[in-house]
Amino acid sequence: MNSKTTNICCIGAGYVGGPTMSVIAQKCPNIKVTVVDLNEERIAAWNDDDATKIPIYEPGLSAIVSEARGKNLFFSTDVEKAIDEAQIIFISVNTPTKNYGKGKGMAADLKYIELCARQIAKIAKDNKIVVEKSTLPVRTAEAIKSILENTGNGVQFEILSNPEFLAEGTAVSDLLNPDRILIGGETTKEGQLAIQTLVDIYANWVPIDKILTTNVWSSELSKLTANAFLAQRISSINALSELCEKTGANINEVAKAIGMDSRIGPKFLKSSVGFGGSCFQKDILNLVYIAKSYGLNEVADYWEQVIIMNDHQKKRFSNKIVQTLYNTVASKKITFLGWAFKKDTNDSRESAAIYVADDLINEQAQIAIYDPKVSRKKILSDLDYLESRTYKENSKNVASFDNPYDTCAGAHAIAILTEWDEFVTYDWARIYDSMQKPAFIFDGRNLLNKSELEKIGFVYHEIGT
Ligand code: UDX
Ligand code: ADP
Repeated sequence: MNSKTTNICCIGAGYVGGPTMSVIAQKCPNIKVTVVDLNEERIAAWNDDDATKIPIYEPGLSAIVSEARGKNLFFSTDVEKAIDEAQIIFISVNTPTKNYGKGKGMAADLKYIELCARQIAKIAKDNKIVVEKSTLPVRTAEAIKSILENTGNGVQFEILSNPEFLAEGTAVSDLLNPDRILIGGETTKEGQLAIQTLVDIYANWVPIDKILTTNVWSSELSKLTANAFLAQRISSINALSELCEKTGANINEVAKAIGMDSRIGPKFLKSSVGFGGSCFQKDILNLVYIAKSYGLNEVADYWEQVIIMNDHQKKRFSNKIVQTLYNTVASKKITFLGWAFKKDTNDSRESAAIYVADDLINEQAQIAIYDPKVSRKKILSDLDYLESRTYKENSKNVASFDNPYDTCAGAHAIAILTEWDEFVTYDWARIYDSMQKPAFIFDGRNLLNKSELEKIGFVYHEIGT
């Protein structure tokens, strides 16, 4: 393989592929980077003349796209041409949890990955490096290799695992200043050469001591493990938030106190309505599934508890709203501020808001939603995906607004589901005046100032106090 890379492509223009390739293009002006996707609408949005209209909201991303697009960064639906021309092919397609058959609700659905591998095998006429970027179960590289070798045109493929550690909302800064870059490859001479080719790309902006190379399986497992550890911290603090509510301890104080122990550290100790996002739950379920498939039941049960606790935290939040509102929310307007799974993203995959809304709709509440970046179309498709009721019924129970004050007017309660900065700056006295009394706030992010809100007259509930 040639270590002088001039042409790369990425299959999948989503939350991983889009930002990652934009940063590679910006940092490697001599490499032509083409991002391809089957979704024409998505590619058209990436190509919109107005770079603020790109399909993924990430602070700083539209500026990078404007800078590189048309020079060495291209978005296209011509998957075959991009594969043919590239020396390195990144696979960044979605790998949702399977919702059918064996491993339903647990294993990752690899059908999109397999389709990519078959397409690469069909088209490639010269040697290629294929890089797994999507979050995948351990040993996926092996499956990709087997497809490529058994269906290809006799060309040589090297498979690398290069998991993405970016977090949404901070993707650009995570990509520009990563804690580490992890590249897993085979120990053969060709494998090592392929690793070096990818190292050379990242070395354009990442210090070499932050680029870690391992075997393929360690790389794949490290990604699952990193996410499992982070999610475990959140479930741990959330478990204790319930105990705090019973004992009179305050979870914010407890988190601060333990986080100052340098061995524990302060990050990922923020109690919340529950973690969401496309990775944590999926990766832990993968871990559980792999452990079970090797008969490691204790290992599987240990990690599954992180998910069980997260589901409990979401349920606890909706139950608390119902109980506090005199055991009924039927026909009451409950306002949601926030729908995204965290601030600074328009992504709502696995957002706690979806599950809390579903519970409250079961209780016949009328939900009014305001999120600065998530559209009504997305909100309704998220609810529809749960299959709890028809699309029409969901539409009747959910209203969405484009400003927070109308969303809150006449509400019996406000629930904060996402920690958007702008929520803190609202005119809360004006909101209070427009609501039913008593006016309740259920702060699922411990975001707002309790004493100020109580002074205005709100009945304020936060997590873990
Ligand atoms: C995560 C990993 O952080 C990232 O490295 C990996 O590449 C992909 O998965 P992401 O899901 O984008 O990133 O966001 P993250 O910041 O990890 O937050 C995940 C969820 O946990 C969010 O719902 C967030 O609100 C919640 N969270 C996070 C808490 O509830 N408390 C915390 O202290 C931190
Ligand atoms: P992630 O968060 O992992 O980036 P997304 O769902 O945001 O996931 O993006 C994955 C993208 O991959 C989607 O836009 C989807 O259309 C695209 N995709 C899936 N399969 C293929 C394929 N075989 N060829 C091209 N694009 C694909």
